[in-house]
Amino acid sequence: DWIMSSFVEDSIKAIREKVGSGKVLCALSGGVDSSVAAVLLSKAVGEQLTCVFVDHGLLRKNEGDEVEEVFGPNGSYDLNFIRVNAQERFYEKLAAIEEPERKRKIIGEEFIRVFEEEAKKIGTVDFLVQGTIYPDVVESGLGGESAVIKSHHNVGGLPDFVDFKEIIEPLRDLFKDEVRKAGLELGIPENLVFRQPFPGPGLGIRIIGDVTAEKVEMVQEADAIYREEIANAGLDRSIGQYFAALTNMRSVGVMGDERTYDYAIALRAVNTVDFMTAEAAQIPWDVLGKVTSRIVNEVKHVNRVLYDCTGKPPGTIEFE
Ligand code: XMP
Repeated sequence: DWIMSSFVEDSIKAIREKVGSGKVLCALSGGVDSSVAAVLLSKAVGEQLTCVFVDHGLLRKNEGDEVEEVFGPNGSYDLNFIRVNAQERFYEKLAAIEEPERKRKIIGEEFIRVFEEEAKKIGTVDFLVQGTIYPDVVESGLGGESAVIKSHHNVGGLPDFVDFKEIIEPLRDLFKDEVRKAGLELGIPENLVFRQPFPGPGLGIRIIGDVTAEKVEMVQEADAIYREEIANAGLDRSIGQYFAALTNMRSVGVMGDERTYDYAIALRAVNTVDFMTAEAAQIPWDVLGKVTSRIVNEVKHVNRVLYDCTGKPPGTIEFE
């Protein structure tokens, strides 16, 4: 794609001019926007760039390792990569907290604290990279709920907490599909480029009620099975967003000769244009059946699988 290759070339040139010999810091989430921004910076200024990846223990199965494979010392890019394994910290802070907004707030604040600690270790930073894309610019202008949340939790909210001279936003003029094209142009693996939207608070808001390490594992396993079967059915690029959530409901079931009293997993799948409204996706019954039987058989302490048929409104896409 010649337009994208010239976007990449022009951006690299502009970044080099702007940064000079300065130090650059980037909060890497593993999402497509921050990944593409990080790679552009890496191509432009190499090891003047440090990427901090906070693993809050609320990522999907294997996600932390996947990010490290791409950006870490054995990956394909020239940059300083810091992975902070902060799982325990987050689980401790979240213990026994049930209220959704409090959970979001705790995760957001802890994220900033961890990032800030790492930034301090690096010392003086001249530039902070943000993966802001064009719709974010528009959305924050409108001040919608998710914009507010994003500004508190995601890369978008960090400037207040780290000392630096200037922000670099290399994707500011791009739409999502253009960011993906740029990502492919830059050689970023497809699983990252076509990654689904994933909320900053991660699985923390896909576990209804209090979060524990055991529950995180349950939802990770169920979600991995769901994604695998959706991909096997060839539906992974045609459904807008889909994921498993762990309800806080336990119910009676039977397994062999044994009575069980275990959790229910909820499957969500929506089609949407702009994530402001959405409709439940119609996943073929046989695919749902396969996912269900695998989840109840393979995921410990889950004995029931429910499918969420609710549109947005009145439901939100996430459960909390
Ligand atoms: P809701 O649940 O509000 O979600 O219908 C709309 C879209 O936004 C994502 N989402 C978030 N993204 N930080 C984010 O970066 C958040 O706190 C957050 N909450 C929801 C959600 O996954 C969906 O794509």
